[in-house]
Amino acid sequence: MHVQDIKLLISAVAPEQYPVNQLPEIALAGRSNVGKSSLINRLVQRKNFARTSSQPGKTQTLNFYQLNQDLTLVDVPGYGYAKVSKKQREQFGQMCEAYFTSRKQLRGVVILVDGRHDPTDDDQTMYEFVHYYHHPILVVATKMDKVTRNHQAGNLQRIRKVLQMDPADDLQAFSAVSDLGKAEVWQWIADKM
Ligand code: GTP
Ligand code: MG
Repeated sequence: MHVQDIKLLISAVAPEQYPVNQLPEIALAGRSNVGKSSLINRLVQRKNFARTSSQPGKTQTLNFYQLNQDLTLVDVPGYGYAKVSKKQREQFGQMCEAYFTSRKQLRGVVILVDGRHDPTDDDQTMYEFVHYYHHPILVVATKMDKVTRNHQAGNLQRIRKVLQMDPADDLQAFSAVSDLGKAEVWQWIADKM
């Protein structure tokens, strides 16, 4: 897809704030600092549209981005960030639950995990949670530019195993600093539209 036009529709915390359009929607979820905003920037070929940061926990709201007249991408705040209070953690859980259970036009969820390491307990919880609600899932292993070629296949196998992924769900290696995975992620999204 060629993205001519991208705009931030709203940063929402509650369902009454979600955009009312009926465009197909794809959500992106993953641990803080895993590279969600970077993946969005890569997909839309903008350097810093979705704000990226070396400071984890930067994105705290559900950010709805409309691409052309075609699609909405939702940047879900990163989880697993150590420096948040118990209250914030609960609010985050409620916000995600409200979104994943109520959003009718949600067509699929991209779950990002760090391609260099085994998925964490938080990653597993997120995968199970999204899978439980029967959303199609693409697991994206990010930062693969930092994994040597002869470790890439093994890391992907580990991710599938640790997450106990449904064989029907897809797994894709990705890098925000090269073209790795970009076409495949777009194709997966296009198939859901
Ligand atoms: P939160 O908004 O805090 O949840 O983080 P995020 O998941 O949006 O991560 P973000 O895109 O801000 O990236 C975090 C850091 O990782 C930044 O310093 C990025 O430049 C870096 N990064 C993201 N993706 C890649 C990648 O594919 N390769 C490399 N080498 N660095 C990456
Ligand atoms: Mg972000």
